[in-house]
Amino acid sequence: MDYFTTTSKASNKAIDCVIVGVYDRGKLGAGAADIDSASGGAIRRHIKSGDISSELGRCFVLTDVAGIRSPRVAVVGLGKVGALDLGKFRRALSAALDAISRSKTRGILNCLTLEDVSGTDSYYLARHTAQAVGESLYRFTEMKSGRQTPPMPLKKVGIAVAKRGDAAKSMRGAEHGDAIASGISLAKDLGNLPPNVCTPSYLARTAQKLARNHMNLHTRVLNETEMKRLGMHSLLSVTAGTKEPARLIVMQYKGKTGQKPVVLVGKGVTFDSGGISLKPGPAMDEMKFDMCGAATVIGTMLAVAKLRLPINVNVVVPAVENLPSGKATKPGDIVRSMSGQTIEILNTDAEGRLILCDALTYSRRFKPDAIIDVATLTGACVVALGHHRTAVMSNNDDLSQSVVAAGISADDRGWPMPLGDEWALQLKSNFADMANVGGRDGGAITAGCFLGKFTDGMNWAHLDIAGTAWKSGKQKGATGRPVPMLTEFLLARCGALP
Ligand code: BES
Ligand code: MN
Ligand code: ZN
Repeated sequence: MDYFTTTSKASNKAIDCVIVGVYDRGKLGAGAADIDSASGGAIRRHIKSGDISSELGRCFVLTDVAGIRSPRVAVVGLGKVGALDLGKFRRALSAALDAISRSKTRGILNCLTLEDVSGTDSYYLARHTAQAVGESLYRFTEMKSGRQTPPMPLKKVGIAVAKRGDAAKSMRGAEHGDAIASGISLAKDLGNLPPNVCTPSYLARTAQKLARNHMNLHTRVLNETEMKRLGMHSLLSVTAGTKEPARLIVMQYKGKTGQKPVVLVGKGVTFDSGGISLKPGPAMDEMKFDMCGAATVIGTMLAVAKLRLPINVNVVVPAVENLPSGKATKPGDIVRSMSGQTIEILNTDAEGRLILCDALTYSRRFKPDAIIDVATLTGACVVALGHHRTAVMSNNDDLSQSVVAAGISADDRGWPMPLGDEWALQLKSNFADMANVGGRDGGAITAGCFLGKFTDGMNWAHLDIAGTAWKSGKQKGATGRPVPMLTEFLLARCGALP
């Protein structure tokens, strides 16, 4: 997508569509006021007639308005004056893009400015513009046969700025937003693909393809024999029941010499049936999304590589399928993890932690400055936080705070949850060093504590994205979260934010 900034007025820009907004009680945003006066009151007339609504998420498109150079004016509802935050801004913009999505619009100019959106700056406004554009254009039609209605041929997106001085910051925001949108799209694609296509090998091939297309990015893929040699018996116990071979995907991006990397570890269970501790039937298809941790760390890597950030980032993805069979791991089996600690597997459905613990141990070789794992780890996390916040657990308060802060700036929010010996004690086993489950109570936290037994001495944070990685119901699909949060964290860490 091509982005540009302009100080020209909404009424005066020759472009396929301009986007302006109206608030409750007939208050017009700056762009709408300009259109209204240049057109002799077209906007107010349509408010009166009820065509234009101030309700957030509604949009009415005026065409060929006298006195306006653009053939389309998309008028979106912005709700209450002063209440438009970045999330609502993205929704308003999406409403406009939806409204013109069947048209032949090739260029748009967004005339919602800092005057309209509260508590932000020109960098973030442009970044969220680009993100909204990317998300609105996203389609997943790969698996549908027959002709699909093509998406609108949008090529140019303009961002109205109040003064010339804002242009550079806006352009940087748009560039970052565009890269984040690519990362989100890739993560969504991987998540949405069916589990018979998106296998561990498919994830590995995707990572290898990214490395071919980007400078400074290398991918190495380990097979089961290599993992066995490393002693990853915990990871391998999860893949025992399936014919689909497991993979350990290791990506390394080098943007700076002589600096310890940030390591991102993503849970890559391409289908989680529960194994011998079989899950109930309803909605089991959604367990194809159990690789969204992997998808989002790979998506974040794409954003980093596209922006050529001056930072070192490694991605480690343990990728497996969790199925029952005559060869599958049984409740009661005890395995030795790569760390040497033994694990009694009381429930084969608590498999995420079994692959992550070996991936975390493997990651020690990189001497990470910080290590963050991302996983659709527990149903208990969904009970605790619903679908609105990613759970953030950490053994380091500074790290936890910067991750949570990144989520706020990126409008992809997390919420801190505790770790502690009280919960860790629930993992006691009579037969091994630990059990892989700690009972129902505090299930998201005991899962975090399990991983904490493998991160001693590292600055580590754990993101449980079980509630945020995908949507169910009519809008079923991957969300791409937390690509924005993770990318923001890395942008802040390497000083790339204005
Ligand atoms: N992938 C699931 C977690 C999950 C379930 C995420 C539903 C989103 C929606 C994970 O592997 C799992 O099955 N966890 C178990 C753990 C339990 C056996 C301790 C769970 O949450 O039920
Ligand atoms: Mn499971
Ligand atoms: Zn799982």
